[in-house]
Amino acid sequence: MAATGVPSDPAAGTLSTRKARAATSGAAPASQTALGGRVIRAVRGRRVLVDGRWIVSFVSASYLGIEQDPRVHEAACRALGRWGVALTTPRILGADRLTLELEDRLAHFTGQPAAMVFPSTTHVALDTIPLLVAKGGVVFVDTWAYPTHLPGIHAAQRAGARVVGFPHNDIDALKRLVARAGPRGSKVIVADGIYPEGGPPASIETLITLAEDAGATLYVDDSHGLGVLGTPPATSSYPYGRGGGGVVRWSGRPYTRGVLVGTLSKSIGVPVAFLAGSAATVRTLRRASSAVVHSNPPAIPNIAAALAALDVHEREGDQLRRRIAHLVRYFRQGLARCGLAAISTDIFPLQAVSCGTVRDAVAAGRALMARGVWPVVQAGSTHGSTRVGTLRFPITARHSVDDLEQAVNALCALQADRGAASR
Ligand SMILES: Cc1ncc(COP(=O)(O)O)c(C=O)c1O
Repeated sequence: MAATGVPSDPAAGTLSTRKARAATSGAAPASQTALGGRVIRAVRGRRVLVDGRWIVSFVSASYLGIEQDPRVHEAACRALGRWGVALTTPRILGADRLTLELEDRLAHFTGQPAAMVFPSTTHVALDTIPLLVAKGGVVFVDTWAYPTHLPGIHAAQRAGARVVGFPHNDIDALKRLVARAGPRGSKVIVADGIYPEGGPPASIETLITLAEDAGATLYVDDSHGLGVLGTPPATSSYPYGRGGGGVVRWSGRPYTRGVLVGTLSKSIGVPVAFLAGSAATVRTLRRASSAVVHSNPPAIPNIAAALAALDVHEREGDQLRRRIAHLVRYFRQGLARCGLAAISTDIFPLQAVSCGTVRDAVAAGRALMARGVWPVVQAGSTHGSTRVGTLRFPITARHSVDDLEQAVNALCALQADRGAASR
């Protein structure tokens, strides 16, 4: 599936208006609305109270679960007492010192010279992509890249850039398209570090080399990689490496040709978006970005929560990742016991089970919900270009072994029911 709605046929070259409108309309796909629209009345670990029942939730990808740490709550409360909910002042007029401190910390965390926070990744894309690609330039976008980049891609297109989709993770195709675009004009390559639809991390080292050779800028959304993947080596105790600094650290290559963006809601559990990159890019955005001039910055209790969450991450991140690896292995072994296999290729904590068609996945999702397990239904594909329905299970340090056991038992029961029905 083309997550961005960008045509995967490179010959198409530009976004069709119909596809662009559909992709930016805000309409959620039927696969996601099927189990959506629930009222969550309370949260305990990864159990949520929905329709009068405590069910096991897999609809948060806050892998380390730091958002539930009391130290983070206390920091948010202290900031609330001192600053109130928000300054309610656009950033261009002034910023609180906590926000500036968070930006320094994020630059350090991602290994970039500077960083800036934004209300959301949509704001990041809108303000940044048109800045990086001039009129007559080209935006190359992986067709599975996350849809929040689209408004920025469209803005660049309206300003005179061309948009070219390349097949998911197909570096050879991207090379050909970049070569066809010729040496002149600015170029931006948009990719995710880890694709929420599944599969291995993007080959960042190859993308870096390609961008260097072509004089292009990389725009990588590392929302999922940050907080999980880190500095190699990967060992059996630390299969994600150490430090959680994201796909660039994982690749071992210096990243000097681009920007890293993402939401912190997965790595440290706080919904604040960021961009990290060169000092010049960040300086320009701080002066001219529309989020800075026109929008409210992220709320101060969230900023304080993010700072405290980074402290927890620094002290305990590697231990939390060890726990996640243990839980992911437990989940995969549980599935194997009843002849099921996660289609995820490795032990990245975003595990997925294939269900056949998208309609099958919706039915399976409903059946799991009836058994007290809430997965994400995804009309995605991790099998080449075949469109398959999957159930996704982000496994987090807040899940207990009992939570996973319940999910595995529910999946196995479903598998048994299907077997019985087909006999
Ligand atoms: C890769 C990726 N980028 C961005 C987002 C959303 O970020 P934000 O809430 O800041 O728009 C998500 C959310 O699931 C995501 O998976």
